[in-house]
Amino acid sequence: MLILSFESSCDETSTAVLKFDDNGFVAVLSNIVASQIEIHARYGGVVPEIASRAHAEAISKITYEALEVANVTIDDIDAIAVTAEPGLIGALLVGVNFAKSLAYSQKKPLIPVNHMRGHIAANYISNPGLKPPYIAMIASGGHTSIVRVDDYRDMTVIGSTRDDAIGEAFDKVARVMGMPYPGGAALDKLAYQGKPVIKFPSAAIKDDTLDFSFSGIKTAVLNYLNIEKQKENEINEADVAASFTEAVVSSVLVKLKEAFARNKQIKKLVLAGGVAANSHLRDALNQFCMKNKLELYMPEKCYCGDNAAMIGSAAYFEYKAGNFADTSLNANAVSEI
Ligand code: KG4
Ligand code: ZN
Repeated sequence: MLILSFESSCDETSTAVLKFDDNGFVAVLSNIVASQIEIHARYGGVVPEIASRAHAEAISKITYEALEVANVTIDDIDAIAVTAEPGLIGALLVGVNFAKSLAYSQKKPLIPVNHMRGHIAANYISNPGLKPPYIAMIASGGHTSIVRVDDYRDMTVIGSTRDDAIGEAFDKVARVMGMPYPGGAALDKLAYQGKPVIKFPSAAIKDDTLDFSFSGIKTAVLNYLNIEKQKENEINEADVAASFTEAVVSSVLVKLKEAFARNKQIKKLVLAGGVAANSHLRDALNQFCMKNKLELYMPEKCYCGDNAAMIGSAAYFEYKAGNFADTSLNANAVSEI
C-alpha cells in the first residue's frame, strides 16, 4: 500500500510517499522537504505568520514533486496522512486543509497524525526490526518528552519539560554566541573543539518526576557570557559549547536512567526529534545503553528533523487501526501525544 503524507507544523513543509509491504516493512519512495530556515534566520527564530504563508506557497509544488520522484500518480495512493497536532496553528492548518481537500476530491481515506508520534515513528524507517515496548526520548525544537511506548499506538508521556524545549535551549545559547538560527547543529560541531570545564546547572529537576527544566541552564550560560564580557575576559566559546552540551546530555541521562529503573521490563531506548541528530547525545546514549545492556535505536540523521516520511510511518499504524478523519478534521496547537 502507498501513503502520501504531509508535514507543516513548524518551519519545514514536507511531502512524502511511503510504500508498505504486507508485513509492514516500509520503503520511502520520496521525502521532499522545503525548508524555511533561511527565511526565519533573518529574524532569529520562527515567525508564525511567515511560516504559514511559506507553507501555502510550497505545498502543492512539493506534492507534485513527491509523486514524481516516487514515480506514482495520485490514483495509486491508498491513503493521505497529515500532521494535525501539535504545532503552530496557522502552519498546521495549511497542511490539514490541503490534505483534507485532496482526500475529499480524490476519495481517499484521511489519517490525522500527532507530530511527536511521527518523530518516534521515524525510527521504524531507519530500524526495520524495531518493535515496542520501548522508552522513547523525544528531543526537538518544540518538545522534550520521555515516552513509554507499550504498543505501536499505545504510549504514555512519563516525563517532559516544564519550560523550554531542549532544542530551544540549544538555539538560544547558539544565538547569543552569534550563530545563525537554528544554531543547534553549529553548537554540536563547536563543542568538539572545547572542553567541558565550566559548571552549568543540571536540567534534570531534582524531584521524583522524570521532568526537565531547560530555562535555568540557558540563563546560566547567558549570565556566564555577560559576566565574562563585563570583566573583559576572553571567552572560549568552544568551552562554553562543550560545557553546555555536557550539562544537557548528563541531565538527559539522569532522567533516562530513572525511567528504566521504573520500567525494568523494558530493554530498548529510542531517540527521536531534531536534537536526535546531536552527535554528543548519540555517543552518550550509545555508552549508556552498552553499560546498561539496553538496545539503542536512533533515526538516520535525515529523518531526525521535521519531515513527512515520519508522518507516513506513524500513519501506517493508524490506517491498520481504521483511525480515519472526515472533512471536519481540525488542527490542534497543543496536544500531549
Ligand atoms: O524536530 P525538529 O526539526 O523541529 C521540532 O519539531 O521542533 O527539531 C529542530 C531542533 C532545532 O532546535 C535544532 O537546533 C535542533 O533540532 N538540532 C540540533 C541538532 N540538529 C538539529 N540540536 C543539537 N544538535 C544538533 N546536531
Ligand atoms: Zn518536530
